[in-house]
Amino acid sequence: MNILKFHSDEDFVQTGANLIASLLQSNPKAVLGLATGSSPVGVYARLVEMYNKGLVSFAKASSYNLDEYVGLPVDHPQSYRSFMNGHLFNHVDIDPARTHVPNGNAADLAAECLAYDQMLENNGPVDLQILGIGSNGHIGFNEPDASLSSGTHVVDLLDETREANARFFEKLDDVPRQAVTMGIGGILKAKQIVLLVRGQEKAEAVRNAVEGPITTQCPASLLQSHPNVVVLLDEGAGQWL
Ligand code: GLP
Repeated sequence: MNILKFHSDEDFVQTGANLIASLLQSNPKAVLGLATGSSPVGVYARLVEMYNKGLVSFAKASSYNLDEYVGLPVDHPQSYRSFMNGHLFNHVDIDPARTHVPNGNAADLAAECLAYDQMLENNGPVDLQILGIGSNGHIGFNEPDASLSSGTHVVDLLDETREANARFFEKLDDVPRQAVTMGIGGILKAKQIVLLVRGQEKAEAVRNAVEGPITTQCPASLLQSHPNVVVLLDEGAGQWL
């Protein structure tokens, strides 16, 4: 793992954006694996700025998001589709038909999960996968458990995850109880993984992920088994390394 700790927000954001922009410059048809959450927001904003300056184009790229809530209308402000449209897709030249977010409202969620994996199989592998981490070590919505699923699947969100994400909703009860998420196996198929983490509330999860034992109780620790992971941390998130 290549671990980079930044003192300045500016450097964190620019480094993350440069990793994506340089991939698109060398491979305009790159397949991007994208994540939601507060940590990548600045990186997406910087990519929009770079696009506006003509420094990067997404015209031939495609994207696959990690996860989506189950049962939240797709145009709900907190759906991950809305997040991606609002923070990135609506502001750059990516073809909307080539942006993919799991459909958390599919009538048959099991079939949706299989179809998502099939699409990734046909169009992948992902060249660069952006990831965040939950305070409990989850990646995507792969929660700590005795075993982890490899493929895309429906997951029951843990109370701690719903509580952590309640800040984005009016009240805790409004936070969905389930999500569709790519599995660990799918995530690890990416050629390169870039883990973006901000905030001291993530420091313990980060330490467990990069220095702790590889265990399904900290799903992010499985990233240690991947040959090409870059970890970008702000001071808070990296304070225990
Ligand atoms: C949610 C998403 C995760 C993301 C996490 C991190 O739980 N499902 O994919 O990694 O948030 O969030 P943040 O970047 O806000 O810390």
